Amino acid sequence: MTSKSIGIIGMGWVGSSVAISILHQGLCRKLLVNDINKELAVGEAMDLNHGSSFFPSTDIYAADIEDMLQCDAIVITAGRGGNPGESRLDLLSENIRIVRDISCKLKGYKGLLIIVSNPVDVLTYYYQKYTGMAAQRVIGTGTMLDISRLREMIGKKLHIDPKAVHAQVIGEHGDSEVILWSNVMIEGTPLRKWNSWKSSYEDEISDQLRMAAAEIIKRKGATNHAIGLVTATLLTFLLRDENRILTVSSVISNLYGIDRVALSLPSVISSDGIREVLEIDISKKEYDKLHASVNILKKAIRSVGRL
Ligand SMILES: NC(=O)c1ccc[n+]([C@@H]2O[C@H](COP(=O)([O-])OP(=O)(O)OC[C@H]3O[C@@H](n4cnc5c(N)ncnc54)[C@H](O)[C@@H]3O)[C@@H](O)[C@H]2O)c1
Repeated sequence: MTSKSIGIIGMGWVGSSVAISILHQGLCRKLLVNDINKELAVGEAMDLNHGSSFFPSTDIYAADIEDMLQCDAIVITAGRGGNPGESRLDLLSENIRIVRDISCKLKGYKGLLIIVSNPVDVLTYYYQKYTGMAAQRVIGTGTMLDISRLREMIGKKLHIDPKAVHAQVIGEHGDSEVILWSNVMIEGTPLRKWNSWKSSYEDEISDQLRMAAAEIIKRKGATNHAIGLVTATLLTFLLRDENRILTVSSVISNLYGIDRVALSLPSVISSDGIREVLEIDISKKEYDKLHASVNILKKAIRSVGRL
């Protein structure tokens, strides 16, 4: 049985979905939950504990952030989500204040810090900077959710289970993300060689992917279930030291000509965090798009000095 402990900061839509996904996977023995609204955290802990007949044994407590410093991993979902019509970068001015507040309380933390709050790449950069943690231990979920959505969309077109679709989205988790269409594989077959695939699907799905969060937010006010599953999967691979390759966000140093900006690239994940960020083969067009994404993120990072 696992002896791991995990903390979640922010118990709104996303935090509560992350919690239930973690519990179903039996990822930890202790789950500590925190929210600036203390009653919300206490209520969530009570509600989750009442389900304990149905998931592997886990003690769930409402806790202060300071109580989480011994946790193996802490997930941050604190921060406002988008309203219809807002981009993720629009959330920066409010959510950066929360980053400063939480980072002070995390000084000296030695575990793994998983950032979910948006704009996730810019916040990953600042959580690493403000906490002073090693870059390899501060990991944003980045484009993992976009990749999950993309696999589902391609799978639906082909009538193939999304688990057989292997695809990558790199760069910003946001409007400038880069879908590596030429690398998409259906098990061993390149997508572009698949019989029923049409090149026109690429623009159609790219637009659908960019609008995916907005389409959900306008209907139910937030997105939460898929990101809950994504985050629990990332934690599983980290805590089990699986050395899997996932496309996640981290502060990049000197790769593809990118330096001191956080964004998503395929990375080898171990119990120490990001063991290695991989430099994969991309075309000149994809390289240029990636650099456009870098420039957008750098501008957002610089804008924080004025907030
Ligand atoms: N990375 C992704 O793929 C992804 C996907 C979905 C949502 N998100 C982001 O996750 C974040 C949370 O979304 P949500 O829908 O759960 O929002 P929400 O408003 O339901 O929950 C946010 C919670 O954070 C709490 N909070 C605020 N400041 C805090 C602080 N200083 N300390 C502790 N708790 C604090 C609030 O009280 C609230 O309960 C948003 O930024 C959203 O954009 C990211």
